[in-house]
Amino acid sequence: MPRRNNFAFLQKIALKVREKAHAPYSNFQVGAALESTGGKVFNGCNVENISYGLTSCAERNAVFSAVAAGVRSFRRIVIVADSKEPVTPCGACRQVLSEFSENMEIISVNLRGQKFRAKLSELLPRSKAGILDHPCST
Ligand code: THU
Repeated sequence: MPRRNNFAFLQKIALKVREKAHAPYSNFQVGAALESTGGKVFNGCNVENISYGLTSCAERNAVFSAVAAGVRSFRRIVIVADSKEPVTPCGACRQVLSEFSENMEIISVNLRGQKFRAKLSELLPRSKAGILDHPCST
């Protein structure tokens, strides 16, 4: 039976890894805890770059860490930031998350405890429709 972590535990992991963020340009630190369908948890923080464009978000870094550990099936991601309202993943992160699960749950919390919850498919509908669906790919 796959283990299911409680929300408070995932939030704690996201809060903790947020402290590791490398965000000298925006001063906006983000932490993410990604739960696999088997109950494993992978974390990620945003890592900024002086080029700005090479910045990688907390959510994507959590996904890459899971894939490197051989895990590709996810149930939910908990994101923590110090924002007025809970942040939602950027478009790039939505697409990367959808590579592995279109109906995973996205839960975002700010430091005041306000919460946003959605299914990935609500944030990024039809994320793969038609892609590579051409005669040459069969
Ligand atoms: N950021 C994340 O890591 N995740 C989000 O969901 C929103 C934005 C990062 C990217 C950049 O380092 C900083 O927050 C400001 O956009």
